[in-house]
Amino acid sequence: MKETEVAIMDTAQHTPHGANAEAIVATDLTKCFGEGETKMTAVDRVRLVAHFGEMLFIVGPSGSGKTTLLSMISGILRPNKGTVTVKGADIWHLSKDQLADFRLNTIGFVFQDYHLFPRLTTAENVAIPLILKQRDWNESIGEAKKMLEIVGLRGRSEILPVKLSGGEQQRVAIARAIVSQPEILILDEPTASLDGDTGKMIIAFVKEKVLNASRCILIVTHDARINEYADRIIHMEDGRITGLDKGTE
Ligand SMILES: Nc1ncnc2c1ncn2[C@@H]1O[C@H](COP(=O)(O)OP(=O)(O)O)[C@@H](O)[C@H]1O
Ligand SMILES: [Mg+2]
Repeated sequence: MKETEVAIMDTAQHTPHGANAEAIVATDLTKCFGEGETKMTAVDRVRLVAHFGEMLFIVGPSGSGKTTLLSMISGILRPNKGTVTVKGADIWHLSKDQLADFRLNTIGFVFQDYHLFPRLTTAENVAIPLILKQRDWNESIGEAKKMLEIVGLRGRSEILPVKLSGGEQQRVAIARAIVSQPEILILDEPTASLDGDTGKMIIAFVKEKVLNASRCILIVTHDARINEYADRIIHMEDGRITGLDKGTE
């Protein structure tokens, strides 16, 4: 085989959609809060790489900067220093419109407390990202129902979230986060409000049904019971990365 052919094959393996390609690269990422005497560094020069096809955990005690880190990676909170590159694009140098588009199309976010709208049915909750993209209402509800089936909530599309258990509400939140097929899925303490078994079931479910070669999943947790599902674990303390488990970048 000619050298050029080898080079082309090598590039092909690193296209953004191939497993093991870099999905997120954060370098020197830093966020401070407060001024003067009360100034504190919530995230301190963090470097991390997350790949397509992997479920990466970020673990650390409460207050260690996990949510702040996720907010900067997902385009919600502007860092003081450092860069976040997602699929090769430096997200904090995008225009306002491009950043909004990135948040809507590339990232799916699941919050600890689900953040479901109590007066909307489960299908309407799941359809919100599609409605925001100006998709037809009926088409969006149809798509939402398909997602609810995927997360095991078939036949529960017309009810209000309050009628569901915590685990079921978390599955609605996951369905809403994946309805627009984001390549990056971010879950912030997804098991914090669930009992141990339900929490494990949710994470096992996400790994089996939601993770694929062209998707990258980041999970922030301080729930050690779910560590067994991680492909890799990054440890955080006082805003800094203090260690890596299950292989390194
Ligand atoms: N908007 C904010 N204003 C001031 N301090 C904040 C803000 N957000 C987070 N912090 C502080 O930054 C530190 C890290 O917080 P956070 O990222 O929420 O940690 P974790 O998610 O690991 O519990 C904490 O000390 C927290 O009080
Ligand atoms: Mg947090």
